[in-house]
Amino acid sequence: MSPSAFTGAFAARGLLPPVVREALDSTNRLARELAEQGAPHGQAVIALKQTAGRGRLGRSWLSDEHGSLCLSVVLRPTLRLARLPSVVLAAGVALAETCGAPTRLKWPNDLVGPDRRKVAGVLAEAEAPGGRVDSLILGLGVNLSSAPLGLPATHLAALTGEAPDRAVLAATLTESLLRWSDIAASDPAEVLRAWLSYDLTLGRRVRVGAVEGVAVALGPDGSLELREDSGRTHRIHAGDVEMIATS
Ligand code: BTN
Repeated sequence: MSPSAFTGAFAARGLLPPVVREALDSTNRLARELAEQGAPHGQAVIALKQTAGRGRLGRSWLSDEHGSLCLSVVLRPTLRLARLPSVVLAAGVALAETCGAPTRLKWPNDLVGPDRRKVAGVLAEAEAPGGRVDSLILGLGVNLSSAPLGLPATHLAALTGEAPDRAVLAATLTESLLRWSDIAASDPAEVLRAWLSYDLTLGRRVRVGAVEGVAVALGPDGSLELREDSGRTHRIHAGDVEMIATS
């Protein structure tokens, strides 16, 4: 696929021309560099091949050169750091909205198939001197037609029968992300409502690290409330949710 396919798909939606590279270590790394040089709100960065993708919690993100989308978007939201979680949740909403059925969201922001295998993830990296968000990089990795071996992952083609066009998906995802990040700045409760409409975490028995219980609520700060069988509750701010089958 040539970079011009991306430029065309972005132009058709009135978006800024994306920066497209044949190969990059990490689109988040380049997007951060561009943000430091003054890249505007909405600047997208795409790698056809990503060689050192970064995942949440210091992990790496593996992707296939032909079967995945590696996209980062520079945002310059005018909000205080405390409101940032709703913009991060907005990225999950954009993923679920764009990728469509049968994908759902698993806390904190994993897009998964009905069997809960991961299809896409979000890595948010903010620069917020003095508590005001100067720039936020939202990095989205989507498995289109292949999933990394050895992980409980799947891809959109397996779920829907065909892989979406990479350039069209990148543009519609960026468009949705920009719309939901605007909503996050003006009406965070609306983002929370939308996120919950795609959620499959709440009401289920889960384990996060050493804590096991029922996921009972999502806080306005994006945290997950877990209730142990003893009744003790925990507010979880980061981690991986493992769903526990109940018979
Ligand atoms: C996760 O661990 O679930 C988040 C994965 C985010 C991966 C994407 S791929 C595009 C962007 N560039 C990166 O280095 N990481 C993100």
